[in-house]
Formats: sequence, C-alpha cells, structure tokens
Amino acid sequence: MQPLIAQIDKQKLPKHIAIIMDGNGRWAEEKGQDRLYGHYHGVESVRNIVEGCAELGIEYLTLYAFSTENWDRPETEVNGLMSLLVDTIRKEVPILNKNNIKMHAIGSIEMLPTDAQKALAEAIELTGKNTGLNLIMALSYSSRWEIVNAVKNIVVDVNAGKLDPNEINQNTFQQYLSTSKFPDPELMIRTSGEFRISNFLLYQLAYAELYFTNTRWPDFRKENLFEAIIDFQFRERRFGKTGKQIQNEEYLA
Ligand code: IPE
Ligand code: IPE
Ligand code: MG
Repeated sequence: MQPLIAQIDKQKLPKHIAIIMDGNGRWAEEKGQDRLYGHYHGVESVRNIVEGCAELGIEYLTLYAFSTENWDRPETEVNGLMSLLVDTIRKEVPILNKNNIKMHAIGSIEMLPTDAQKALAEAIELTGKNTGLNLIMALSYSSRWEIVNAVKNIVVDVNAGKLDPNEINQNTFQQYLSTSKFPDPELMIRTSGEFRISNFLLYQLAYAELYFTNTRWPDFRKENLFEAIIDFQFRERRFGKTGKQIQNEEYLA
C-alpha cells in the first residue's frame, strides 16, 4: 500500500481548505479531564495540519478557532482559550516564518482581549512577507455577522456615492466580505461527528465539498487530512452542470 500522501494527485489539490476544528471538549471529558485539556491538545493538531498543508503546497487554510457564539461559554473556558491563543501565536511565529507561512485573521477581532489582539497583529505583521501557505484564523467569527457587516458597508458606500446600486453583483459583494482576498474554500472539513456548519463561511462555502469525520480534533493528524483530500479528489464537482458536460470539459482541458 502506497503512503497516503503519494495517493494524492498534486495537480488537483484544493487551493483552499477550511476546517471546523471541533471536539476538543468531548475528547478531554472522555478522558476524565477538563475541557481546557482538550483545547491544549488541539493546538498540536493545528501545528500538524498546518505543517501537512505546507508540505503539500496548499495555498489557503482557514481554521475556525472561535465563533461569536463561543463567547457564551463559561468564563473559565473562554479565558483559558484566550490565553492559549496568545501563548500559541507568540510561540508559533518563528515556526510560521521558517515554513514561509503568512498569517491572516477574520472575525470581530476587536472583541478579543487586548493582549490577544496585540499578539495577532504582531504575528500578521511578522509573517506578512511570507509567500507560502496563507493561514487564516477565524476568531470571534460568525458568518451571519460578516454578511450583515458587508451589507452595512455597501450601504455606506452607496450613500457616499462611491457605489452604484445597479452595479452591485456577486463580485462586488465578495469584495465586502472579510475573505475578499481569498478564493472560496473547495473543501470544508468538520471533525468530531457533527454534521453542521455552525455559522462558518455560509456564503463562501456555496460550492465547497463537505467532509465530515468522527475523529475528534485533538486526534486529527496529517494522515486524516490526506484521507479527506483523497476523498475530495474522487468527487465530481458539477457546479450545476451535468456529469457529461464536466467529463467533456475535463477531456478537452
Ligand atoms: C472546538 O471544540 C473548539 C472550540 C469551539 C473553541 P469544542 O470545545 O467545541 O469541543 P466539543 O464540541 O464541546 O467537544
Ligand atoms: C464551531 O464549533 C466553532 C468552532 C469550532 C470554533 P461549536 O462546538 O461551537 O459548534 P456547535 O455549538 O456544536 O454548533
Ligand atoms: Mg463543539
């Protein structure tokens, strides 16, 4: 049996992979531990997956690390997650630079504690010149918030005479999203056996292939990512057309 990575067609890699990193709490509870123990171990998976994406030559990786709704969790968990975030970002910057990884953030970053905002801004700045994998952290992120915010900003520009309402199309709208600089994800992975999107990239995932696995996030490793990519490569992405049309297009390409 070939190693998994060798089974991946490098010509057909998804450009952008988005991951809902779920299951840290249950992973810890199943071991009789505190939920935060799961979040700490989740960081190892982040490291491993980022490394796997960089090795493969994936261009964009978006990680859903904290949702707007997660602010409603118990205060100790939220505080623990925030300090873990600060420590991790600070620790990882040299590794990101070594691997030519550029960091970005989406979400209402202004809601994060000041030290987290500072660590994040520093990491973005210090990795800003890297040209390899784009690592996009979704923090205090919610897609409905993002869409409403885009609408508000469009209205502001229309009122200021900078934008003609008749000219608004999907391209214009996309420019007002926090992901305007990134292509839409082609593959969305959610760990831990939940089959939902939980307010993640609702607009951007319109044609993404969805991959769900029972593996809890702290157990998710490169090999699991490679399996997801292999599965993705066997899917026929039709974008509303017929299978025959797609096969003809592939034949002519
Ligand atoms: C995902 O794991 C991490 C965050 C949402 C911050 P969870 O903490 O949601 O873990 P479960 O789903 O409760 O097991
Ligand atoms: C989604 O997971 C958010 C993140 C992974 C950051 P949740 O655990 O918060 O989602 P629900 O509550 O199961 O939908
Ligand atoms: Mg969860």
